[in-house]
Amino acid sequence: MSMASKKPVVISVVGARPQFVKLAALAKPLSRICRHIIVHSGQHYDYALSQAFFKQLRLPQPDYNLQVGSGSHGQQTGRIMQRFESLLKAQSPDIVLVYGDTNTTLAGALAAAKLNIPIGHVEAGLRSFRRDMPEEINRRLTDHMSTLLFYPTSAARTNLRLEGITSGLIYAGDVMYEILEDYRSVINNHQNIISKLGVIPGKYYLTTLHRAENTDTPEQLQRFLNIMKNLPGPTVFLMHPRTSRRFRQFQLMKQLKSINKLIIAQPQPYRETLQLISQAAMVMTDSGGMQKEACYLGRPCLILRRETEWVETLASGTNVLVDLSLAKVRKALRRMRPRRKKSLCRINGHKPSEIICQAIADHLRNH
Ligand code: UD1
Repeated sequence: MSMASKKPVVISVVGARPQFVKLAALAKPLSRICRHIIVHSGQHYDYALSQAFFKQLRLPQPDYNLQVGSGSHGQQTGRIMQRFESLLKAQSPDIVLVYGDTNTTLAGALAAAKLNIPIGHVEAGLRSFRRDMPEEINRRLTDHMSTLLFYPTSAARTNLRLEGITSGLIYAGDVMYEILEDYRSVINNHQNIISKLGVIPGKYYLTTLHRAENTDTPEQLQRFLNIMKNLPGPTVFLMHPRTSRRFRQFQLMKQLKSINKLIIAQPQPYRETLQLISQAAMVMTDSGGMQKEACYLGRPCLILRRETEWVETLASGTNVLVDLSLAKVRKALRRMRPRRKKSLCRINGHKPSEIICQAIADHLRNH
């Protein structure tokens, strides 16, 4: 006789690239303690940003895809809420898991909170203290609706406590660290993206840019262009579709393409991205995930932002905040010595997935 119907139901709602990576750490262990339903909001839909990750990370196909697509914040968040609410009513999960800080995170949490369904937030407590960042609004509000807050660092815990959140706090460590450790030994196996892009290991820069505050005005894109024009070596630029749309919209694409030694490529799947990071002379990015991954892989990283939620990466000495300032980039390039040491990063955690699953199992047993 099947016991499947007796199992508690946990729904994970994901929609954007970094959330698929986080889910990869949890999908298997979660399926052992509950009926785990994966809902894809459809926020990311391009193959390179979505399917490629499910395939490579061997994630089960989503049970549902809400197919919300792109739109303004209100449209996207609203559509996810509406469609997710119907699904929640039909499935009555015991807990909803949300990840990180995207519009999918906030919409998923809001829909669940209004139906009184407990929420677990993976990567709780991170703050940039910038209210003009959509991600800051998303994570702050999500934390205040969550029952279980899986925070990755002690700085995140302090942030939560300062906002008056004192219960349900669980130190989990970083799930992205865990998944990276799983992949570390195979990073350089199989397809060699480095030679495919025509660069030499250790002798290229790697860059990405996608944050709204960096891409949504021509002035900011111009500053980025200025940095790219002045880099001394070949640079691989993995261009997010949002960014290429902006370059076209502001008629700056021609300038970008004319930069000598700049190799513009599609966003890469997980392993290829790690391979590119691990062999780069230096990484330059505004991505939260990549700045940590550079730190974990011991590669120097210039963070193309004024602040970071992962303050521990700065203390490691490999990561520096440079904003989109050419002067700061130049200074950092002069000062930083590329090193091949093992990571000095102070973010980690022993098996975050086990801690998270244990806390969920305890919650399900006691409620
Ligand atoms: C989103 C998250 C950001 C996260 C990032 C990871 C929000 C507010 N932002 O940013 O926190 O770091 O994902 O990648 O949730 N587009 C496509 N194809 C796609 C998806 C998007 O072409 O598959 C284009 C569309 O023009 C779209 C734009 O990119 O309007 C922005 O997409 P969106 O999902 O709103 O935000 P991201 O910039 O991807």
